[in-house]
Formats: sequence, C-alpha cells, structure tokens
Amino acid sequence: MRIWSVANQKGGVGKTTTAVTLGGLCALRGERTLLIDLDPHGSVTAYFGYDPESIDNSVYDLFQLNKIQTDQVRPLIRETSVEQLHILPASTAMATLDRQLGSRDGMGLMIAQTLKLLSEDYEQVVIDCPPMLGVLMINALAACQQLVIPVQTEFLATKGLERMMRTLNMIERSRHEPLPYMIIPTMFDRRTRASWDTLGVLQQHFGQYLWSSYIPIDTNFREASRAGKPLCHFMPSSRGVQAYRELLQQLCGEGDARQVAAL
Ligand SMILES: Nc1ncnc2c1ncn2[C@@H]1O[C@H](COP(=O)(O)OP(=O)(O)O)[C@@H](O)[C@H]1O
Ligand SMILES: [Mg+2]
Repeated sequence: MRIWSVANQKGGVGKTTTAVTLGGLCALRGERTLLIDLDPHGSVTAYFGYDPESIDNSVYDLFQLNKIQTDQVRPLIRETSVEQLHILPASTAMATLDRQLGSRDGMGLMIAQTLKLLSEDYEQVVIDCPPMLGVLMINALAACQQLVIPVQTEFLATKGLERMMRTLNMIERSRHEPLPYMIIPTMFDRRTRASWDTLGVLQQHFGQYLWSSYIPIDTNFREASRAGKPLCHFMPSSRGVQAYRELLQQLCGEGDARQVAAL
C-alpha cells in the first residue's frame, strides 16, 4: 500500500484537484485506490456527489471509535462514479474534532491505524488535507509515506509554504524519520509574470524538493468537478491531465532520477 498526503496550509492552491486527479489516474491504471477526505469542507466528498453536511458514516465517526476494527471501518467507505476508486468521506462535523478531542492520547494515529487494517484492500491511498494545522492534518502526515505540496504559482504563494515547512519539521521530530516531500507548482500560466517569478523563487528556496515541471492552468478542471469525475476519466489528453500523469510517474519513481532522489 502506497500512501500520499496532499497538503498545504493555504486554501485554493490545488490540493483537492491534485488528490482527485492522482487518485483517478491510479484507478485508471487498474489499481485499487482509496481517497480519504480529511478536510471538513468535504471538497472531495462533494466532488463525488455526497453531501458533507448530511452524510452519516464519515471520517468523523472513525474518530469516535475507542478501538478501530476492520468491520467498523469498511462500512464508512463509499464507491464513486469511477471503477477502482473509493472514498472515505468527510462531514462538516469534523470541524469540531479539535475542540472535542483536545490532546487526547493516540488521536494523531487514527488514520495510520485505519490504513493498517485496510492494507490488503487498497494499493494506493491519497489523503486530501484541510488547509489548517490540527488533529486531521497531523493524522495525514503521520500516516503517509510521501507528502505532495501543491503551490499556486501566484504572488504570496510561498506564505502557506513556510507554515507548511514548520509543520513538517514538527511532524518529522515525532515520526523520528524524515517525511519525503515534493513541491508541485500549480495553475501555472505561461503568459503571466507572476507564474514565472514564483517558479524562480521556488527554485531558489526549494531546489531539489521542487518538481522539475508544473501543472498548467487548465479550465477543464472546473468542468470536471461539475461532472463529478476526475478529469482523466473524460478528457484524458487535456494538458492538465498530461501534467498529472507525469507527476504520478515521478512520485512512483518511474521518472527522472534526480527527483526520485529528492523523495
Ligand atoms: N491546474 C488548474 N487549472 C485551473 N484551475 C484549477 C487548477 N487546479 C485547480 N483549479 C481550480 O482552482 C480552484 C481551487 O482548487 P482546489 O483543488 O479546490 O484547491 P484547494 O483544495 O487547495 O483549496 C478550484 O475551482 C479548481 O477547480
Ligand atoms: Mg481542498
């Protein structure tokens, strides 16, 4: 089982789009794939037609369990419109988890424990994170083997990234091992100065951790979310999908050696 988290402490940078598209591409390869929605906004959940306001059986319920068991976890998982792609949905009630759980022991490892029980069920797991640091983000970073950090190629993009790096340092101290990560420039617009400037700043500061390519701006992503399917399932040759396909190869170690070394 390969587990990725997609995180950045800034909203609107392409996290959900990245999680859904990477998950969709894994499913298209025929791999059993699970998308976990850890954002109380429930964007992945809504993407696949479930209502995070009214859904029962979600990540929220997982956090209410005293002892996580396989027969309690499996009923929380739903099918999507896409074969081989399942989701563990979010509900808006998850926004209360931080206050509810406080610093109760063991709460940071709920998702890691859940995935251990599902290790035979799925080959790929992609976790979509909320933009704020809290028990849900900590769970994602504790459970994953690789971290994907989308960064919008816009002014101020590096602000959320600095916070994310501090969080990463904190998590690495409690994991007692480094968490490999890759920064992904998103919504890159070749025609704008802001895109090129931001790419330059990222190269300067994050060199070896920066993906050598970028995700271009592609308005089809918005259409895809309306259709409730990953873009790769109805526009496989769009520019955005091609870029995510390259990214997936890189993350799976099938690409260029320099970036694989960075992971
Ligand atoms: N490469 C892209 N090109 C154009 N629009 C994009 C791209 N990636 C994401 N978007 C759009 O930008 C908005 C924010 O993206 P989203 O993935 O929801 O970000 P986040 O999860 O970080 O808040 C959405 O409307 C999405 O459709
Ligand atoms: Mg999101």
